[in-house]
Amino acid sequence: MSDMAFEWIETSDPRMAEVSELRYVTLFEPFGVPRCETWNDDIPGIHHLIVTVDGRVSGYACLIVAGESGQVRQVCVLPALRGAGLGRGLMTEVVAHAQRLGLSLAWLNARTTVEDFYRRLGWVTTSGEFPFGRTGVPHVRMEHPLHTQPAKSGA
Ligand SMILES: CC(C)(COP(=O)(O)OP(=O)(O)OC[C@H]1O[C@@H](n2cnc3c(N)ncnc32)[C@H](O)[C@@H]1OP(=O)(O)O)[C@@H](O)C(=O)NCCC(=O)NCCS
Repeated sequence: MSDMAFEWIETSDPRMAEVSELRYVTLFEPFGVPRCETWNDDIPGIHHLIVTVDGRVSGYACLIVAGESGQVRQVCVLPALRGAGLGRGLMTEVVAHAQRLGLSLAWLNARTTVEDFYRRLGWVTTSGEFPFGRTGVPHVRMEHPLHTQPAKSGA
């Protein structure tokens, strides 16, 4: 794929408008959920990750840090670009970022339709199914342990 780039951006970044459209089209429109203008994008501890392809925002995930754990939310890729590794790249970078931040655990609520996507990437299901969010579709909680490097003595 030509010119693909992963980037952590600020809530104030103008590309967050593209992110909002992407989230609506991928996560909510397919379920007939009305468009929502409130995304809570500036809550404390939030980190926004985008992947661009030829400059266009094509995938997104966010990490919300609270204490020593981080919740991953709103993982999505443009339908036309699925199956090309963008989702895997987003999740790899999210976990790496959580590791860099020194977190001990990453977790998420996964739609059961994508549970296997996460499982292949090292995520472990830790709950039964429950309806969740604005779509109300079945979800499971999944976790990814993080192994932070102990500080080297004398360094
Ligand atoms: C889930 C999603 C982010 C995956 O993105 P993607 O760019 O297509 O994923 P990738 O191409 O990186 O796929 C990585 C691997 O996961 C597999 N995979 C992708 N979607 C899958 C799914 N729904 N179920 C099982 N495996 C899946 C791919 O086949 C690939 O397997 P491989 O390692 O054998 O090559 C994308 O399908 C999406 O945006 N879905 C709609 C929004 C959504 O449901 N988000 C999750 C909310 S919890």
